[in-house]
Amino acid sequence: MKKILLMSIVAGGLLFAEGVVNRENIKVMQDLETSIAVIQKGFFYNNEGIVANGVNDVKALMKNIDAFKIQNEDDLKFDSHKYAKDESESISLLADTLLTQFKDGKKDDSTRTYSTILNKCIACHKIIRKW
Ligand code: HEC
Repeated sequence: MKKILLMSIVAGGLLFAEGVVNRENIKVMQDLETSIAVIQKGFFYNNEGIVANGVNDVKALMKNIDAFKIQNEDDLKFDSHKYAKDESESISLLADTLLTQFKDGKKDDSTRTYSTILNKCIACHKIIRKW
């Protein structure tokens, strides 16, 4: 019995260390998905306040991902911490740009910036999950 317990603690520790599943990251990501959807809702309802809410939430969540450690077995020199930090700064800036464009009535530019953010989300997931 003791052995089994010990084994599962060791296995759990390994999973965590390798960053295969990190519950905290998952929670941040699920909140991020909600915030991104809020921005989209703002576009459809043509509502600056809703876009601004989504942008604020995305920016707040970006402060959590800049400490992410991501496993990338293809490239051992890959500095995941730096990558996450750079991407989180870049996504925050893009979110500000998107809001300014929306406020200025440049809806096309604003949705294009939105799509650039989506591509950044996908790019990181491609590295992590090979999606
Ligand atoms: C710097 C890397 C990085 C960026 C950028 C990133 N993510 Fe993630 N994302 C992750 C990690 C890490 C996971 C968890 C993967 C795992 O443990 O399998 C994840 C998983 C997810 C999931 C799945 C959660 C689940 O329950 O399985 C969603 C949804 C998600 N991200 C949304 C987003 C959105 C929306 C953006 C862009 C605004 C984004 N992510 C940008 C790293 C990133």
